[in-house]
Formats: sequence, structure tokens, C-alpha cells
Amino acid sequence: MYYESMVETWLKDHKLKTPEMQNEPAFYRNLEQRLDTLRAEHKLLTAKPRWDTPMVDFASNDILSLSRTGRIREAFLQEISRHENWNLSAGGSRLQNGNYDYILEVEREMAEFFGSETAFFGNSGFLCNAGITGCVALPGDCYVFDELVHASAHEGMKLGRASHKVSFRHNDVNSLRETLTNLRETHAEFKLGTQSILILVESIYSMNGDMCPLKEFVQVAKQVFPLGNAQFIIDEAHSVGVLGPHGRGLVSMLGLEKEIAIRVHVCSKAMASTGGVILCNKTVRSLMMNQMRFAVYSGAPSFPMVASARAGLQLFRSGGTHEEQERIQKTISYFFKRLTSKPDWQQAVAAGLLSCPVAEGWEQRQFHAHIIPIRTRPRHEQYLFFHNMLANIMAYNFAYPVVPKGESRIRIVVHAHNTEDDVDKLVTSICQWAHEMLDLEKCGSNNTLPSAASKVFASQAAVKA
Ligand SMILES: Cc1ncc(COP(=O)(O)O)c(C=O)c1O
Repeated sequence: MYYESMVETWLKDHKLKTPEMQNEPAFYRNLEQRLDTLRAEHKLLTAKPRWDTPMVDFASNDILSLSRTGRIREAFLQEISRHENWNLSAGGSRLQNGNYDYILEVEREMAEFFGSETAFFGNSGFLCNAGITGCVALPGDCYVFDELVHASAHEGMKLGRASHKVSFRHNDVNSLRETLTNLRETHAEFKLGTQSILILVESIYSMNGDMCPLKEFVQVAKQVFPLGNAQFIIDEAHSVGVLGPHGRGLVSMLGLEKEIAIRVHVCSKAMASTGGVILCNKTVRSLMMNQMRFAVYSGAPSFPMVASARAGLQLFRSGGTHEEQERIQKTISYFFKRLTSKPDWQQAVAAGLLSCPVAEGWEQRQFHAHIIPIRTRPRHEQYLFFHNMLANIMAYNFAYPVVPKGESRIRIVVHAHNTEDDVDKLVTSICQWAHEMLDLEKCGSNNTLPSAASKVFASQAAVKA
């Protein structure tokens, strides 16, 4: 069973190391000691063993199924077969030998496809997001960020030279308005339009699966700062391939290409390749080429890497992912319909055992995000994860510090390869678990450990012994 190998890995990773480190140099001893504090609290993020069949995939990044069907590999092989004498290394950073014709050509295609003046191709989505966020803020500027933006945006803000940094409540239009108005009223430079405000958001939030109310945000920014000194940086990591015509993302879906200064796309998710793309105008691109340390002091993306992204781009552009995009929407509707109609689910929600904010009012929504969190009580996310895992379903669990305290959850990621049968299995598993938990609670028993968790913990104890 898959769970046995997972338990084994987990136990191996959580074995305390400090006792064995007494005679080792302080450097390694102190690092293991630091890790041991996490191990002791079961907070170490362990890499899960790779799972494939027979697990039902509600977890991977292969949203459009381009990896598992081999379509991206085929497109990539075709792409490289059209070129000769290519190198595995770009041969330098972008300011040196790494500014080769092929990468420039693909950037032009990307810019055209996404409706942007220019594009910049970088080594990863993380580096692009952190890099651009860090380099476009000047002293005197301010970052205004949604409280749930990705770690890469936070790293970028640490690098940036902005003088102020303030968050607003997640996806809350009024909170953004208040934050911006407050800045305008307390800082003459913002009111006069001489310094910039950079607003950081994401199209679809990776842990919540909700979409940014971007149109409303743009309106607010324009109302509060009519001189145009409030500009957006949007991370489209989770919307590319899923939203908009040909999977161009949220900005394109809403027709806001001209309103958004900087878009970051990642190729490692729906595009099933590697790298990141920054879409912006010529001014921003020039600045980035000169000042973005990840570009200036790092080797440029290699030919195979750029070719893999181009292969993905060609699949998008040719309409080759249209059917997958539509299928995901249908599967999500099917999931919501099935889940919310189940009495066990309804009882679990009424009892405060489970909730799914994005399932509320799903019929009214025109487009769904493929990320669906099922919120649980603390620790229950682990129990539900175990329950699903024993039913051969993979949907990862998340707890603090990855999500805010008290907001534990499992995250369901819907893919083009998920069938109605997969959804039925998932819904059955969630409802079975809820039923069991409600029964345990009804009994008033102190032992509220459900059967799957008991089984996994027993297996942990057996391996330990
Ligand atoms: C919102 C968000 N931005 C950026 C990234 C980083 O993308 P990449 O995997 O290309 O580094 C991720 C990846 O998890 C993400 O979820």
C-alpha cells in the first residue's frame, strides 16, 4: 500500500538526530538541532514519496494532463528536432552570452500570445516573481499586498527598496480601498503622484482557490490614485492554462492587459514544462535586464528549458488544450453538485466539522478555479488526508504555517484527467470520513481518532518498534 511507504519515509525523516551529533562540527550539529525542534513537533515538511497509479490524482500540478498523456514530451521532441547544434547551457547571463536569438524569439511569441508589449523568460516562476517584485520598487515607494500572496512575493518584498509595506485583507475590495486611501492621506508623495504604489495580488490563490476581484481592484486603484501611480503586479501561476481564452489567464479573461503593469506566469504547472515569464512593457523589461539580480547574476535559461515552454505555448495557442480546459470546468461543477447534495456533507458543515467556502454559490459562478480547499478543524486535515489515502486518493493536507493558524485543510486540485468516477470516489471518501467523525462525536467518546488515522498511527508504531 502507498501509505506504508509514506509512513516509512515520514518516520525516517522524523527520527531525532541531535543524539548522534555530539562529536560533529557545530555547523552541522546546530543545523540538526534546528531540524530536531521541527521533528519533535512533527512540523518537518517531508517530501512525500512519488505516487502514480493506482492513486487518484487530486494533487499534482499536471492540471491539463499534458505530462501524463505524453503530449508535452511529444511537442518538446518535435520542437527540438527543428533545431540543430543547440547547447545545454545558455553560456552566460542575459547581459552576456545568454541573450541568444532563440530565447528572444520565444519571448516575442509569448508577448504576442499574452497580449503584452514584451515578455521576459526566467529560470522559474518563483525567481521571476521574487525578482521583479524586488527590482521595480524604488526608495519612497510602497508595496500594498494581499495578505495571502505567495512566498515568492514576500521574498521579493524583502529584496525591494520600497520604503513602506502594508497588507490588505484577502480579496477584500473595501480593505484595499481603505489601505490606499490611508496612504494617500498620510503621504504627500503618493497624493501628488511622485512615488509609486505596487499592488501585489494573485489570480487564483493556491491555498484558497478563490479568484482575485481584479476588475474591482483596478477601479479602486484608479479612483484613489487617478494620476496612475498605483500599479499592479499579478502572479498568474494558477490561472494560466485554466482561465481565459486559450488559457491565457485571468488578466486576459477580463480584458485587463492594458491596466496591469506586470504579470508573472509560471510554466511548471498547467504548461507542464519549466520556467517563468514576466509580461510587462519595455521600460520595466529594460530595468529588469539591468537590475534584476536573478537575471544579471545568473545563467540564462537553457535552450531545452525554453523549448519546453515553447512546446507548451504551441499547445495552448493551437487550441490543443481547449477541450481539457472545458472538461476541468465540467468536472468541478460535477464535484460541487455531488458534494453539496450529500446529507453527510450537509451535516458535517452544520456541525462545523468541514466547510468549503468556494462551494458556496457555485451555480452562480461563470468560471471555477481548479483548486478546492476543504477546511477542517486542526489535525483533522491529517485524518482526512489519511482516510483519502487509504481509499487510494491523493489530495494533500495543509496546516499552519503553510496556511494561517486555525485554517487547516485538504486541497483538491481538479485536472483534465479526473473523471466523474474519480469525483464520486472522492466525495464518497470525504462523506464516509465525515460520517465516522460525527458518529464518534455523538458517542461523546474521548477517543476521537478515526479508523484511517488509527491504522496509519498503528503502522507508524509498528515500524518504530
Ligand atoms: C502562486 C505561485 N507563484 C509562484 C510559484 C513558483 O513557480 P515555479 O514552480 O515556476 O517556481 C508557485 C509555485 O508553487 C505558486 O504557487
